[in-house]
Amino acid sequence: NVLAIFTAFSMALTTPQLYAQTFKMALGDAAGGTQWELGKTFAEKLSDKTGGKAKVDLFPNGQLGTEQDTVNNAAIGLLDFSVLAINNVTPFSPTVGLLTMPYVIQSAEEARLLTQGDIGKELVENTIRDAGVRIVGWAYSGFRVLTNSKRPVKTPEDLKGLVIRVPRNEIMIASYQALGINPTPMAWSETFTGLQQGVVDGQDNPYITISAMKFNEVQKYVTNIRYIFSMEPLIISESVFQDQSPEMQKAILEAGQEATVNSFEFLKNTEDRIKKELVAKGMEITEPADNEKEWIESVTTVVWPKFYSSIGGKEKLDNVLKQLGR
Ligand code: MLT
Repeated sequence: NVLAIFTAFSMALTTPQLYAQTFKMALGDAAGGTQWELGKTFAEKLSDKTGGKAKVDLFPNGQLGTEQDTVNNAAIGLLDFSVLAINNVTPFSPTVGLLTMPYVIQSAEEARLLTQGDIGKELVENTIRDAGVRIVGWAYSGFRVLTNSKRPVKTPEDLKGLVIRVPRNEIMIASYQALGINPTPMAWSETFTGLQQGVVDGQDNPYITISAMKFNEVQKYVTNIRYIFSMEPLIISESVFQDQSPEMQKAILEAGQEATVNSFEFLKNTEDRIKKELVAKGMEITEPADNEKEWIESVTTVVWPKFYSSIGGKEKLDNVLKQLGR
């Protein structure tokens, strides 16, 4: 009968599509930044590759916990995916500290070279072993520039008296100590409020992240330092990954790789525009004095030797420097 056919047809149109698999992805940052771009592209590619069977829901703004919490939650299979800064993986898998050794990676191309080559492969294996999560893609987010609400900073001396927030990351804490101040470790999800309420005066993160997080509303001065090039892995719970069919695993790895390629282009096409927008909104950018010489010397001489053992030996850093032609 016509009515029955009509009813069945309209139900098919209005009933939500049933996905074979819906994954949850945590993002530490707000929508619009490099994490979002990586996650969104990954979700689109995975949907394409699985004929629409796999759906990924993105939860930005630390809704699913601090970046470090998401590593724990993924490790025990409570969360499928997370995109977070590599410095927030280091506490769980110290060898990835190699990628945040200060003043080592000096361009997006160098970041790509290291993450895509043998060194990147070894770090992926180490992270599965140590932290129970698998890196399946990377966002390249730009240099972590220093922002503060009080005054232009050109030299390490200018930092005196400023309270600078850092992630809970030993290498970054040691870097500011080498510059002569004691920074304040604070979770990323608490940082905007910390800056807004004046609990801390400043922090460091890439231009695109500063913009996505609207830090320009609570920070005025930027120092264009280049001590860490921010890389942000897309991780999947290793137990969730192992539960997938070989086809789904392949689709996840390919989607991650394609989203990584897109991330590199996104950075190239976006960072300059965002930087100009931040200036137009009132931020003031200062170059570090003397081509950053004093910053580089103070930090590298103290911090590198201090972390040789946690990154797996001095030879690991020597190998990176060699691959980068230094
Ligand atoms: C941090 O500063 O904790 C992170 O780098 C922030 C981020 O993930 O963008």
